Amino acid sequence: MYADQSAKVKIKKYQELSPDAKANLSFTKIDLSNLLEQIMNEFEPIAQENLLTVRTIRDQTPIYGYIDTEKMVCAIDNLLMNALKFSMKPGEITVRLSAEEQHIYFAVENMGKPISDEQEKLLFERFYKADLSRNEHHGSPGAGMGLSIAKNIVDLHGG
Ligand SMILES: Nc1ncnc2c1ncn2[C@@H]1O[C@H](COP(=O)(O)OP(=O)(O)OP(=O)(O)O)[C@@H](O)[C@H]1O
Ligand SMILES: [Mg+2]
Repeated sequence: MYADQSAKVKIKKYQELSPDAKANLSFTKIDLSNLLEQIMNEFEPIAQENLLTVRTIRDQTPIYGYIDTEKMVCAIDNLLMNALKFSMKPGEITVRLSAEEQHIYFAVENMGKPISDEQEKLLFERFYKADLSRNEHHGSPGAGMGLSIAKNIVDLHGG
């Protein structure tokens, strides 16, 4: 019941972000390095409770980008929550933020169950979950929407 409701909310969010959605984004200039510091301050204690140590690698100098902060935080949140849900525990999560010429790179790395090349191709599809058995046995932790939404958000930022 609860999972269904959360899926509906996410589908609505997804529709709001469909191709002509760029007009609905509100871009502002923001220091992503600082934004990430704030996000990680909230995330680290949660990770620690889940037996995960976090390593954040980012320049101490500002990395300015024009982004829709609310939507980009959504995308980053999903990557961090995925790392939390799908990591082997105890373990380590590495988060990297860097800038090169006109591009900003953000990456989250964690150890998990190996996935095949075929599965890798499907990861960004809506509703795709690489490990169904895990969800059946532990109660579905998600709708399989997060990565497709995150991809959509990144695409709308020209990524
Ligand atoms: N960091 C990760 N490590 C290992 N597997 C991952 C990781 N991130 C995603 N996956 C796999 O990719 C699938 C799709 O991820 P996605 O974020 O789209 O969905 P979800 O997390 O299952 O649900 P939702 O994000 O909608 O709550 C996951 O179900 C999981 O099998
Ligand atoms: Mg997810």
